[in-house]
Amino acid sequence: MIEVRDHDGVLELAIDNPPVNALGAQVRRELLSAIEQADADPTIRAVVIRGAGSLFSGGADIREFGQAPVEPMLPALVERIERAGKPVVAAIAGTCLGGGLEVALACHYRIAARSVRLGLPEVKLGLLPGAGGTQRLPRLTGAEAALEMIVSGTPVDAARAAGIGLVDRLTDDDRLAQEALDWARTLDAPCRTGERTVAAEPGLFERFAEERKRALAGRDAPRACIEAVEAATRLPLAEGLAQEQALFARLVEGDQSRALRHVFFAERLAAKIEGVPADLAHRPIRSVGVIGAGTMGGGIAMNFLSTGIPVIMVDMTQEALERGTAIIRGNYEASVRKGRISAADAQAAMGRLSPTLDFAALWECDLLIEAVYEDMAIKTGIFARLDSIAKPGAILASNTSYLSIDEIAAATSRPQDVLGLHFFSPANVMRLVEVVRGRLTAPDALATAMGLARKIGKVPVVAGVCYGFIGNRMLMPRQLQAEALLLEGASPEQIDRVHTGFGMPMGPFQMGDLAGLDIGWHRDPSRIESIRDALCAADRWGQKKLAGFYDYDEKRRPTPSAVTADIVDRFRREAGVQQRAVGEEEIVARTLYVMVNEAARILEEGIAQRASDIDLVWVHGYGWPPTRGGPVYWADRIGLDRIVQGLRSYMAQDPDFVLSPLLAARAAEGRPLSE
Ligand code: 3HC
Repeated sequence: MIEVRDHDGVLELAIDNPPVNALGAQVRRELLSAIEQADADPTIRAVVIRGAGSLFSGGADIREFGQAPVEPMLPALVERIERAGKPVVAAIAGTCLGGGLEVALACHYRIAARSVRLGLPEVKLGLLPGAGGTQRLPRLTGAEAALEMIVSGTPVDAARAAGIGLVDRLTDDDRLAQEALDWARTLDAPCRTGERTVAAEPGLFERFAEERKRALAGRDAPRACIEAVEAATRLPLAEGLAQEQALFARLVEGDQSRALRHVFFAERLAAKIEGVPADLAHRPIRSVGVIGAGTMGGGIAMNFLSTGIPVIMVDMTQEALERGTAIIRGNYEASVRKGRISAADAQAAMGRLSPTLDFAALWECDLLIEAVYEDMAIKTGIFARLDSIAKPGAILASNTSYLSIDEIAAATSRPQDVLGLHFFSPANVMRLVEVVRGRLTAPDALATAMGLARKIGKVPVVAGVCYGFIGNRMLMPRQLQAEALLLEGASPEQIDRVHTGFGMPMGPFQMGDLAGLDIGWHRDPSRIESIRDALCAADRWGQKKLAGFYDYDEKRRPTPSAVTADIVDRFRREAGVQQRAVGEEEIVARTLYVMVNEAARILEEGIAQRASDIDLVWVHGYGWPPTRGGPVYWADRIGLDRIVQGLRSYMAQDPDFVLSPLLAARAAEGRPLSE
């Protein structure tokens, strides 16, 4: 766990706990004992702490949170390092996060490799840095830079770290170990971060919180982070540390952090594919072809272009290609303006794009992704064509949101190479990708797609073949019930408010307006069979017409619509439905509990590999608040019996509703769905 080597009076302590050198109980015990021995040993003049392997440390062992504490605790270890009577140098390579950075902050000097990333990502787990990070980082970098790092949780690179005083020296990666030892030998005395003081300009904390009001709303951890950093500017170290501890203790036991920790582990678990060994060789993907230069195709292409993978994009007309290319360029230009990427990187990404009308150019691609109109005949036509063009072993993927991958695969002579890659719109932004495993998809094709999706920064989740896969299949009953509630007497605002109050970025009707109510519309204004039909017939197609369920101003800000209310009223009268008052409990049961029911059916049918995968689909694809862990996690927390009771009360009259036997059984047994 801790490798100790004496380099002629400079003691090198390497944290060796693969895969990420997490600071679990045994590491803490051994590190504490090594520091104490070094301090007591007159032949030792300085200490260097580094990480074995390619990184310093990924921080505290997250698996220990929620368990009985094991001594020594990280804050005590960190304090002991700072108190050491001999110079202690942190030699930082690779990644240095959370508790790992807090160890480095307590060291007396810091030298880092130029490829390093340093950060305090605890806020993403619903926590604050709990081993002195909120007190020591501001003392080194000033309050504002520390606030930014702690509240965003985003790591900084070596240049920024040196610029804000977080590290004292930078060096080449391969020279780090030796230079740290050489430097340590020259140091005379400790230089303790905790002995510094830090002041803040008046109003800094209020301004900082105000500027991020929307992003911070409803989240406990960022507020606690701000409070703790503020304490660092006001209180002596010991008192500030005590305050940090108290805040940490509250957060770590809280519902939000538990849910966010669930999401963290769910993301890692999702990478594991049932029945496929983790070390199965992947197919090399050096270039990608995208068929369809529309919004979706363009967004998909950007993911690869930004990661350095060239893309050939084909469409049927020059005009479509030019429009698609212009949208991609526009997106990159906007990113440059917002400072998210450099102009040079944007240019390099555009340089990797080859738009062409020549379908045959796709022969050289290792992965082909079809992103055209949602129509089985068109898709099977394209796949038959790809079959005759693509080189052997190329992966053929469809971006379909609903259709059967098995049927699409049957249009080719190589169904083993066919799978679904369902990106979510906007595809260059949304992190979810459902990787759809067809009946005949080869394990290495699936593993390649999963690995590649992670490489381009996505959260890939394996889904089986069914109408709508995981996410859209769960969306369907929600949408049906929302519209039924509207007919019975609720308003769009009332239903959407329940969802936004729950923490969703938007409710079902706001989402419908954003996507476009005309999607899937039969286009016959005289055929009015639903409220949607009536809205479409009245030219209310959603945001793009500035009119849908809501009215929109030119900045697309919604207000409740009297026109929609009239249309709904008329439709209700014609359908002979008596309006009644609908309560919040009913909205929750009929739009959220029905999703849990569908999730249970998805589990029963083996469409999702595991419950936590379903949670990820909703967190990363549909804006389910991560502080509520995902639909299955949430259901288990509030109790399945409550869900089943709600469904029995409010869905019994619906002849199409089928209560999932799995859900009913788990509720009766008092066992969670995620088990
Ligand atoms: N504790 C426990 N396990 C961890 C861990 C941690 N801090 N960080 C990663 N792991 C595990 C993962 O669960 C995964 O396990 P598995 O192989 O069984 O699925 C394995 O290590 C590898 O993780 P990744 O797949 O994420 O590896 P990558 O190489 O892609 O990324 C990383 C490495 C950047 C370090 C990434 O794992 C990461 O971001 N880890 C979390 C960092 C973090 O949040 N640190 C703060 C912890 S809280 C803290 O320190 C509190 C303190 O202030 C008191």
